[in-house]
Amino acid sequence: DDEEQEDSIVSSDSSGEEEESDEAEKMEEKVEDNMSCPVKHVDAGVSQSVPAISKPAHTEKPSKVKTFLPPSQPAIFVPVDRSPEIQEARLKLPILAEEQVIMEAIKENPVVVLCGETGSGKTTQVPQFLYEAGYGSENDIIGITEPRRVAAIAMSQRVSLEMNLPQNVVSYQIRYEGNVSTETKIKFMTDGVLLKEIQKDFLLSRYRVIIIDEAHERSVYTDILIGLLSRIVPLRQKKGSPLKLIIMSATLRIEDFTENKKLFRTAPPVIKVDARQFPVTVHFNKRTPQDDYAGECFRKVCKIHRMLPSGGILVFLTGQAEVHSLCRRLRKMFPYRGKQGSKDEKDEDAQEAKALRAFKKSKPKKKVNLPKISLDNYSALPMDEGDEDREAGGDDDEEADRSDFDLDLEDAGSDEDKESDSSLPLYVLPLYSLLAPEKQAKVFRPSPSGTRLCVVATNVAETSLTIPGIKYVVDCGKVKKRFYDKITGVSSFRVDWTSQASADQRAGRAGRTDPGHCYRLYSSAVFSDFEQFSQPEITRRPVEDLVLQMKDLNIEKVVNFPFPTPPSTDALVAAEELLIALGALQEPPKTGRLRVMQSAKLSCPITPLGRTMASFPVAPRYAKMLALGKQHDCLSYVITIVAAMTVRELFEELNRPALNDEEKVILTGKKARVLQMQKIWAGQGPAQKLGDLMVMLGAVGACEYSGLTPTFCDRNGLRFKAMMEIRRLRGQLTTTVNSLCPGVSIFLDSKMQPPTESQVHYLRQIVMSGFGDHIARRIQPEELLDEKWRNGYKTPLLEDPVFIHPNSSLFRQLPDFVVFQEILETTKMYMKGVSSIEPEWIPALLPQYCHYGDPLEDPPPFYCKASGRVRCHRQSTFYRVGWQLPAVEVE
Ligand code: CDP
Ligand code: MG
Repeated sequence: DDEEQEDSIVSSDSSGEEEESDEAEKMEEKVEDNMSCPVKHVDAGVSQSVPAISKPAHTEKPSKVKTFLPPSQPAIFVPVDRSPEIQEARLKLPILAEEQVIMEAIKENPVVVLCGETGSGKTTQVPQFLYEAGYGSENDIIGITEPRRVAAIAMSQRVSLEMNLPQNVVSYQIRYEGNVSTETKIKFMTDGVLLKEIQKDFLLSRYRVIIIDEAHERSVYTDILIGLLSRIVPLRQKKGSPLKLIIMSATLRIEDFTENKKLFRTAPPVIKVDARQFPVTVHFNKRTPQDDYAGECFRKVCKIHRMLPSGGILVFLTGQAEVHSLCRRLRKMFPYRGKQGSKDEKDEDAQEAKALRAFKKSKPKKKVNLPKISLDNYSALPMDEGDEDREAGGDDDEEADRSDFDLDLEDAGSDEDKESDSSLPLYVLPLYSLLAPEKQAKVFRPSPSGTRLCVVATNVAETSLTIPGIKYVVDCGKVKKRFYDKITGVSSFRVDWTSQASADQRAGRAGRTDPGHCYRLYSSAVFSDFEQFSQPEITRRPVEDLVLQMKDLNIEKVVNFPFPTPPSTDALVAAEELLIALGALQEPPKTGRLRVMQSAKLSCPITPLGRTMASFPVAPRYAKMLALGKQHDCLSYVITIVAAMTVRELFEELNRPALNDEEKVILTGKKARVLQMQKIWAGQGPAQKLGDLMVMLGAVGACEYSGLTPTFCDRNGLRFKAMMEIRRLRGQLTTTVNSLCPGVSIFLDSKMQPPTESQVHYLRQIVMSGFGDHIARRIQPEELLDEKWRNGYKTPLLEDPVFIHPNSSLFRQLPDFVVFQEILETTKMYMKGVSSIEPEWIPALLPQYCHYGDPLEDPPPFYCKASGRVRCHRQSTFYRVGWQLPAVEVE
């Protein structure tokens, strides 16, 4: 029964639930009765099934007033003192014409969907409408979530400027920083931050309104937030302190929100904001360059700049490194030496290099001063690392006129990368998510006179930020996407083609103020092969971390959760299986010998261990290690190992081909030295059994001991950036652990002693407990079917043998049982991050993976004097593969 399941997703006190569903039924009837939308009339342009509010006919448009108060609004009115320039700019935004419609819809409906073209003013204006109408008065806060950190910061700054209010009133909160105060009335935050707040206060009682911005991006957290809020809103209504939910999106596939009956029983009204969009002519390349799309971008920008009339250029690339490299080439070609030129022009890379030199010069501090973390910052770390530009959906740009010809530019001058060009200076600015806020802000300011603006951006410029004055868009057609390997569970960023919707959205950026042009560096044939929309992120990634977070919110039947787009049942089952195996969820009763009903598997409640795990800001496997690490004073080592495993690739790649003989000699020498160091770090005697994780511990220890300098890292083949990241993570995890675990107080010692023999032993067990399905058993001589299998290992998940990576410290030792972090496929399938384990630990520490023998066939029980109990030996097998494990004693 759908209805019943739907109500039971949140285990809360059930009194009054009946009433609610009765009411809901009545409401549904009413809607069916007269197909009417909750408010006003249906806009013919909107799909029939979506009740919509159209804007009033132009003649009826209310004359725009600075401070409009809808008649039915509470008698609270909060004046805002804006500067005349700001007010003038605001009045030009299409959304201002819709203020009355929007505010009335919000007043009369608990949930409203607001969609409009990028740049129409949704993000900057709607919070102001709400504030003026009294939604941020007394102790109430207006909350706005953004999927990107850059948008949360930039938008809070913009709104604070527009409203002439300080940043402690219009504030932001992202994972590691923020300026929220007791005065805060408008709070921009990342979606992860709000999710963490729901964990603390399910009803979000401090908020009067929640705005979910950029909902079309379909970030995992945004999707989950919408699902949760669809339940929180009725609960707040019942409590008599209604919460308003506003979902804002580009005009794209809003049906996932409005037509999903599991989400909202009554489809929320949709308000469309028409933006003035000028026609954009789309030019495709005749051929699609194979690899060098960045070089192609360079040539295209050069041609545009030399041949076409004035107007800003916006280039879409995929990542921070590419953005910088193109900026450098363009600045060299069209140098700009304006008044502030020398300062502005300075390459960020050069500044980075300078900072690094300064760092090298500065004496290493004795005490390691680590940044503090806030517990509000909860999202799993691996999700947030790197240049986290997500691919975004976009808007079908109907006015975009596609052509297969590149008439204007085809026979433009030479493509060569000359020293410099005498054309007008180009004012080149980078834009990507991790760029410092003050540098980001530059793109919004007018470019110096006598120059042409050229912004080289990742896809943050696709929908999150609107740059004024852009007439030409150069689109490489690519986007950096996160890929997940189903077998190893390891994720990586890869550059891939974008979607048609995103490409159209990018093109649309050229038509904000005037008709524009979009140059696509790929052929129309390639474009027609693009997927229509990017798949929502939730359908493309493993969900064990989300499932654990949801169980921690007491959502037991995750399968019934009202996801806007649900992940596949397979993905949910896999997640629950892993969490059960980790002990984070209660094991469902077994009906057969091993078979468990799928439905039972999908509704397992969380265990106390699971709750602890959910509170650590890392993926569940690592969280399990942290949760167990308290024992035997192992925690500081576990923190270091988890930080190192999460950062990965500590060591420089030294097997690369040398460019010349000189480099060959250097590389050979360095390799020898690094091998020697790794041997030292791997330890002596029993310590060696911890294998690669011991090497990681040793490397981090040595690095911190020496003050973590680039020189030390370089000499020892360590990546300085990776080591810095490990230091940061160790600091965060230490702070988290200290505040979460009563009685624990770890401090970060820059002179970490190596673990003792017995600690190494426990550490191996702790790693095994987190990676139960990453156990491999050496192939025995009698199993050798093929000479190629020599020195190979069997794993529960793969048919083919896997091998210890040649760089591993256990490469020559070949222990019988090992646990590995990941499998990397190159010439063979190689295990990386390998430690040895003892098979007798498996039945004791990983009971969920084991099938225990028949008591009748096992040796008879015996009385154990020492413990005063009856005990028996029991055989066990590792169930997926039936490996016989040594008998264990049980009471
Ligand atoms: O959210 P939506 O895409 O609908 O628009 P918005 O982000 O609210 O932007 C509205 C307008 O404000 C755009 O024309 C931006 O160019 C402008 N804006 C600005 O001038 N400076 C900022 N820092 C942010 C926005
Ligand atoms: Mg916006």
